[in-house]
Amino acid sequence: MNAVFHQAEALHEKIKNEIIHDAESFRIQYLGSKGEIKSMFSAMKDIEPKERKAFGQLMNAIKVTAESRLKEAQGEQQFSGKGGQKRDYTTPGIAHKFGTRHPIEQTKDRMIDIFAKLGFSIAEGPEIEDDWHNFTALNLPQDHPARDMQDTFYVDSKANILLRTHTSAAQIRVMENEKPPIRVITPGRVFRNETISARAHCAFHQVEGLYIAEKVSFADLKQTLYYFAKEMFGSDNIRLRPSYFPFTEPSAELDVSCFICDVKGCPVCKGSGWVEIGGCGMVDPEVLKSVNIEHPKYTGFAFGMGIERIAMLVHGIDDLRLFFENDQRFLQQF
Ligand code: PHE
Repeated sequence: MNAVFHQAEALHEKIKNEIIHDAESFRIQYLGSKGEIKSMFSAMKDIEPKERKAFGQLMNAIKVTAESRLKEAQGEQQFSGKGGQKRDYTTPGIAHKFGTRHPIEQTKDRMIDIFAKLGFSIAEGPEIEDDWHNFTALNLPQDHPARDMQDTFYVDSKANILLRTHTSAAQIRVMENEKPPIRVITPGRVFRNETISARAHCAFHQVEGLYIAEKVSFADLKQTLYYFAKEMFGSDNIRLRPSYFPFTEPSAELDVSCFICDVKGCPVCKGSGWVEIGGCGMVDPEVLKSVNIEHPKYTGFAFGMGIERIAMLVHGIDDLRLFFENDQRFLQQF
């Protein structure tokens, strides 16, 4: 055995035992094009021909060792971060922030619970509606001036496909499919082409109610609203103002006293001490006719309320836009 063999074996030992601080320096030192293994290979010419095979095998074994140690070092470095420092497994983990339920959802659920106690079940309809369910069946034929009351977003104006402007559309679907007595609320999102302000948004939420049975009267409607106000606000200080809706007759606007300013006058109640939270009335016989419900055997009442308005009153919020901005500082308070 000549000295070159001994050198090669010494190199092999060195590679096996090397403490690797940096994988890349190790690679350059041993496996690089000017590295120690390459230069040892070039000593092949000094080896006697009959020993060349054995030397070649040894050199290959050295290369394999170096490569596997390099892989191992690279893996460790990737795992422990730059510089080859080991990870400290005792450091505390990163805490994840938990979300909260959106105040609109919370308010919606409370409203559903209150009406559930009165026996109302839930029905939902599509947000993209057709003209029939959103307007025509609700006694708003094609050229009815009251269509302008609700600025409508059309998805396809030729086919009369639109974003529903109220969840009353879903109530038509219920009346088409069910026989009286019917007692449903329809919670959901609605859309109107309105300028966004502290009091209005182009997408908002409603809970609308419908009760159809024999001998339903305006007094039943009033009692239902009193009960709701008492449960929701802890006060039944409400008033009904005569109004007009094509689908109810008589119709009224529902106001509650302004809990934001305690009736002293503020921007939300525009100084009046009252805030409008929705509309209501006795279902117009024309609507019952369009869904084939016998009248006057059956009569009914309907109401519709905006969830944002109610959430504002409950929590004393004076700008409706806050609900849509997803600012964590706001949402975390609920
Ligand atoms: N659908 C009406 C609206 O969104 C509210 C309403 C419902 C009025 C039921 C009367 C009866 O404006």
